[in-house]
Amino acid sequence: MGELDTLTGSALAQIRAAGTLLELEEIRVRWLGRKGTLTEQLKSLGALPAGERPAAGAGINAAKNALQLAIEQRRGELAHASVEQQLSSGAIDVTLPGRGELQGGLHPITATRLRIEEIFRRAGYEVAEGPEIEDEFYNFEALNIPANHPARAMHDTFYLKDGRLLRTHTSPVQIRAMQRGKPPLALIAPGRVYRRDSDVSHSPMFHQVEGLYVDQNVSFANLKATLHKFMEAFFEQDLSMRLRPSYFPFTEPSAEVDISCVLCRGAGCRVCKQTGWLEIAGCGMVHPQVFKACGIDAERYTGFAFGAGIERLAMLRYGVNDLRLFFDNDLRFLAGFAGGRW
Ligand code: FA5
Ligand code: MG
Repeated sequence: MGELDTLTGSALAQIRAAGTLLELEEIRVRWLGRKGTLTEQLKSLGALPAGERPAAGAGINAAKNALQLAIEQRRGELAHASVEQQLSSGAIDVTLPGRGELQGGLHPITATRLRIEEIFRRAGYEVAEGPEIEDEFYNFEALNIPANHPARAMHDTFYLKDGRLLRTHTSPVQIRAMQRGKPPLALIAPGRVYRRDSDVSHSPMFHQVEGLYVDQNVSFANLKATLHKFMEAFFEQDLSMRLRPSYFPFTEPSAEVDISCVLCRGAGCRVCKQTGWLEIAGCGMVHPQVFKACGIDAERYTGFAFGAGIERLAMLRYGVNDLRLFFDNDLRFLAGFAGGRW
């Protein structure tokens, strides 16, 4: 019995010292398993004289129960500690700064287009659209650019196998609008256009915005005032504007629109090539031939039209010096515009 007390004492000490559930299980097997120390003791009872067996058996069973109880208790403690440990190691520190969600944003060309639409809508213009796949009639003929006209070569057109083409400008939308509705007409038509063209300021796909205003007594002065007001609204600054004589088959007279450089304010810089001026759009009074192709009485109505490159407007507004950046879709470039104001 004295021996049993010593054994039990050392077993209990081991159980209390067990640091892990695995260690505890090893201790249990060592003492209470099929070949465990106490199990062996029970087996050896048979060797005792019959009179001593009951007391010895009761002592061993009591020791066994004591160990089992101690093991259960220690198992509970260790399980609790392991949960505590998991909780504290995986704890969320709500005071840490958040990782943040990636905020998407409008593409700068889309933002610029929306900005243009917004400015013209306020002036009472409608926003019109037309197909990107056009035919020769809408892209050229109705715009007074007959076959073999030298202006066709300037457009570097992409043709489809069936003879249709990718529109080279937004001017065909003028024709569709004048066929559809009667004057007065006031609309802009932004959208994609295509040309075989590629360098820092030219891309095979780019965007233009067309403007058209047709009514009685529309004058060249109205054209100039409209464009001037638009440019000042778009660039959010007072600027000078000048019109230089030019040529488009579908307008007469025609002009190139220059504005004073929005970066150096006319003083001369790299962007305006030291001239103080930026070429920003083409424009003119709708050619009588174009009215005729659309069934509009050129004796009664006059109108103006203009066309500007949206990339060019965006480059100047955002200070981007390579037009191709707009189409690389490099997130480091685009992220600079995310969440920004139009
Ligand atoms: C035209 O396309 C005329 N339809 C504009 C017009 C409309 C004149 C109505 C009169 C009345 P132009 O080819 O110059 O004109 O193009 C207009 C603008 O588009 C240019 O000033 C330029 O900003 C832009 N542009 C032309 N080609 C490219 C290109 N490959 N990549 C980017 N922008 C271009
Ligand atoms: Mg031009």
